Amino acid sequence: MNFVKAESYEQLSKFAANIIAAQVILKPDCVLGLATGSSPLGTYANLVKMCDAGELDFSKVTSVNLDEYAGLTGDNDQSYRYFMDTNLFSKVNIDRDKTHVPNGCAADLSKEGERYDELIKSLGGIDLQLLGIGLDGHIGFNEPDDVFTKETHLVTLDPSTIEANARFFASKDEVPTQAITMGMMSIMQVKKVLLIANGKNKKEILEKSLYGPITPQIPASILQLHKDLTVIYSEN
Ligand code: F6R
Repeated sequence: MNFVKAESYEQLSKFAANIIAAQVILKPDCVLGLATGSSPLGTYANLVKMCDAGELDFSKVTSVNLDEYAGLTGDNDQSYRYFMDTNLFSKVNIDRDKTHVPNGCAADLSKEGERYDELIKSLGGIDLQLLGIGLDGHIGFNEPDDVFTKETHLVTLDPSTIEANARFFASKDEVPTQAITMGMMSIMQVKKVLLIANGKNKKEILEKSLYGPITPQIPASILQLHKDLTVIYSEN
């Protein structure tokens, strides 16, 4: 594992963007696994800057996102598709047809999971996966459980996740209670994992995940078994 301690969120975001940029430069037609939430906002802003400066070309990149709320359409401003369109896809020269987010409104969400796994397989897997981490150790929306679930699947969100994500909604009651998330197989099969976390409140779960026992009760702990894991953490 490479562990990088950044001095600030700004520095963390620059480092993370540089690692993603290096991936795109080395393999212009790479498959990037992307995340939403507050952690990657600075990273995406830096990627946009590099693209604006002509330093980065996303035209051949394909992206697959980790997760989506169940029941939210892509034009709902709380959906993860909307988040990605707004914060990255509309601001860089990526081909929107090559950007993939699970469909949280599919009629049959378990079939949607199968479709998503097939899609990732057909792309040849993910070259680099950007991850954030939840306060309960979730990655994607893989919540603490008795088992690690391999496939893309429907999950019921943990009350602590609903609480944490309520900040993006008008009220807690509006936070969807279910989501569809990439499973641990797709995440563990990626070639390179880049986990970013900032804030003192993430320190304890990060330590437990990286140095404690590997257990599905702390989903991110499985990353200890990944052969190419980079973690960037800043306390601020
Ligand atoms: C989002 C995702 C989640 C977040 C996690 C941390 O696509 O997969 O696992 O990465 O909830 O969220 P923030 O960054 O908002 O603290």
